[in-house]
Amino acid sequence: MYDFAPVPGQPKSVLYADLVDAASAITLDEADAVANMANVAALLGQFLPDLNWAGFYRMIGGELVLGPFVGKPACIRIALGQGVCGTAAASGDTQLVPDVHAFPGHIACDADSRSELVVPVVRDGAVIAVIDLDSPLPARFDTEDASGIEALALALAERI
Ligand code: SME
Repeated sequence: MYDFAPVPGQPKSVLYADLVDAASAITLDEADAVANMANVAALLGQFLPDLNWAGFYRMIGGELVLGPFVGKPACIRIALGQGVCGTAAASGDTQLVPDVHAFPGHIACDADSRSELVVPVVRDGAVIAVIDLDSPLPARFDTEDASGIEALALALAERI
């Protein structure tokens, strides 16, 4: 049994340090990418409040394909440059979207989503996946969340 849990009321910097530590520990010595993404998706859902979707899209054959996640069933394939995820994957840049309705081409997988954070996972200079977080709250994510998920992406780059 794994017993990772966020400490209530801690600052975001500590929350994300704990999340990255937990993700590093749970993926240590495990070579199966799907198993690792599944456990990290569960950790995202456990550690981060006010989310309605958290998980991975993987770069396969030049498009994004749905990976392990927590939340409602989602769109399976996203073309590069399409939506928030495809924009992050095509540019290699984190996408911090306070209002998804104001993002041109946003793909609404869950009508509850109001804000979104998408962070590319880069290995050997190439985007291999994105981490996607959705919230039902407007402007749920700030630059500390972006930095925290970027640290997570770095920790996972060789493990997914
Ligand atoms: N909203 C995303 C699609 C994925 S779902 O949020 C899970 C996008 O615009 O790329």
